[in-house]
Amino acid sequence: MLFDSHAHYNDKRFSEDADEILSSMRENNVGMILNSCSEIAEIPDIFRLCEKYPFMYASIGVHPHEVENLTEKDMDVLREYSKNPKVRAIGEIGLDYFYDFSPRDTQKKWFAEQVELAKELRLPVVIHDRDAHKDSMDILREHEVREVGGVFHCYAGSVEMAKEILDWGMYIAFGGSLTFKKSVRPKEVAAYVPLDRIVIETDCPYLTPEPHRGKRNSSFYIHYVAEKLAEIKGIGVEEVENSTFKNAKRLFKIE
Ligand code: NI
Repeated sequence: MLFDSHAHYNDKRFSEDADEILSSMRENNVGMILNSCSEIAEIPDIFRLCEKYPFMYASIGVHPHEVENLTEKDMDVLREYSKNPKVRAIGEIGLDYFYDFSPRDTQKKWFAEQVELAKELRLPVVIHDRDAHKDSMDILREHEVREVGGVFHCYAGSVEMAKEILDWGMYIAFGGSLTFKKSVRPKEVAAYVPLDRIVIETDCPYLTPEPHRGKRNSSFYIHYVAEKLAEIKGIGVEEVENSTFKNAKRLFKIE
């Protein structure tokens, strides 16, 4: 069974058929899913899905695109929501200097505050870092993310950077971009990172792997990521399946 460690089933692109898709995970060899969160307004919908599907878990947090109007009160709202037993991480949080939808200083402030919140709640973090490697690493180092660990979602950094992330006890997640013909660096990093520190994800409905690029993504396609990882590591797909499943359960403390 595969563990999709990052999905967005509350996204409007699933509003027509989320139930149809989620009801057929087992026969598609997907055993567990962690639904990621981008803004507080999504949390009730995410919780509804988690209640309905025992194999679904949640992270809660505010994506760098959405931080501009956050207040301290919103941190209290997250604290309250974190009491739901399905909540297994704080995220996705981080920095996005590719789109720059929120001012960079604001992004940094709320990234740091949410890392501190994760430490207070003893929850791992789910990191979104797009074109902001140095500042992301500086904040995580300064705010001692190693106390709680977590995962770099859709990892796009270097091998050097991965070394420090692994030193902090964190995991590295690979998704559809691993299958793209032109993406060389994720393949180099995937070859380097030990198998017991890798998890896989779809980030659906985004980042659809080859050969379905351009279509809406779903967890049904996560096996393409597992197959590519097996090819890079020179091992069987079953070993990738078993390891990444166990790793995700360990990361999100799922019994
Ligand atoms: Ni995401």
